[in-house]
Amino acid sequence: MSPAADARPRVLVVGAGGREHAIVRALGRSAARPELLCAPGNPGIEQEARLLAIAVDDIGGLADAAEQEGCDLVVIGPEVPLVAGLADELTRRGIAAFGPSAAAARLEGSKEFAKEVMQAAGVPTARWSVVDDVASGMAAIERYPIVLKFDGLAAGKGVVIAADAAQAQAALEDFLVARRFGAGRVVVEDCLVGEELSLLALCDGVRAVAMAPAQDYKRIFDGDEGPNTGGMGSYSPVPGIDADKMAELSALVHQPIVDLMRERGTPFHGVLYAGIMLTAEGPWVLEYNVRFGDPETQAVLPRLRSDAYELLSAATRPGGLAGTELDFDDGWAVTLVLAGAGYPAAPQTGDVISGLDEAARDGAEVTHAGTARRESDGAIVTAGGRVLNVTALGPTAAVARDAAYAAAHRIDFAGRQLRGDIALRAVERASA
Ligand code: AMP
Ligand code: GLY
Repeated sequence: MSPAADARPRVLVVGAGGREHAIVRALGRSAARPELLCAPGNPGIEQEARLLAIAVDDIGGLADAAEQEGCDLVVIGPEVPLVAGLADELTRRGIAAFGPSAAAARLEGSKEFAKEVMQAAGVPTARWSVVDDVASGMAAIERYPIVLKFDGLAAGKGVVIAADAAQAQAALEDFLVARRFGAGRVVVEDCLVGEELSLLALCDGVRAVAMAPAQDYKRIFDGDEGPNTGGMGSYSPVPGIDADKMAELSALVHQPIVDLMRERGTPFHGVLYAGIMLTAEGPWVLEYNVRFGDPETQAVLPRLRSDAYELLSAATRPGGLAGTELDFDDGWAVTLVLAGAGYPAAPQTGDVISGLDEAARDGAEVTHAGTARRESDGAIVTAGGRVLNVTALGPTAAVARDAAYAAAHRIDFAGRQLRGDIALRAVERASA
């Protein structure tokens, strides 16, 4: 092997969704030409990285693999391994891990902890209380609608906006009596009104460096109707959020958290994702996630012109991002999610997917989420609720949006669900 080939870093990406596919792609564009591994990955990621058949919650197995493979960097996609301490285990073994320690990941793992930290750091957030039985929960409610949040991880299903007492009672019983997500308390929180914004920052324990803003569409149907999902589409940037506004928002929602976590001896490394509501009284934080958002990442990373490998590596070192300015493409990115029949309640699987090559041929980026390769004939079939993402870039929101829809319409499978109004808001505002 030539010395240049020898010097290629080896990177393991942990996860199996569209977010991880987008991370693999961004790393693949790095000048360092990293050798890419992904655990467990999916049939789309398999085209771009060597897959390791290790589940995301197998902390020992993932750390062993990273060690045996001599990985220079492990990028942890989902929250479950972060909350379970994968970054700690890798750090203990001397392997650079992109993602927070278990102690810092509590910002996502516990809503109560997140609220306490927001209050201590002076971050604006809705008024709340914490309860552990149904009667106290009902007594804590002063007006409807009210927001009820299960305190632990619940795969995006732990937040209920109750319109009346009957709905509140049902949600509290589901969380605290039926224990749908296991034992845990409930945060009772005032309901905020406004537009939502996802603002992600790369953090090196000392500093938060804001990435491009994005907007996510949480509901399954057009016009924000129907049940919440993991996200049905996204776009970036966001009209009205220019560089100055971004800096102002990040100083309000990211840096105080990074400062406080550092003071407490649990420095935050990785992505700090602030879910923000732009209320009439200003920006308020709804929640923190401790990882890249999905599907926001599929819209944000294709716009990143800075070197993803250098950035993610730097963020693992205390203060490693000092002097870093992120460079993003001036254009727009629109990401559409193609979901399976029955999603989000009971997604149907095993349907054959057609048109993947045709969609990619037009220059759109197709990332895989819930797909599998059928053993009998190698066909790509649906294997989860959110099946595929299609991202297109363009000089305007309208161009990116049209290209994303043109590509998405080339892909088909039984019962395909695709919202028709993703990024329409951005197009309308840009032309207003
Ligand atoms: P979370 O799991 O905390 O992200 O909450 C999921 C979604 O619930 C958010 O993206 C919001 O749409 C909504 N939400 C959470 N907290 C509030 C709140 N205080 N007021 C209104 N909506 C909320
Ligand atoms: N798109 C929402 C999330 O990643 O939690």
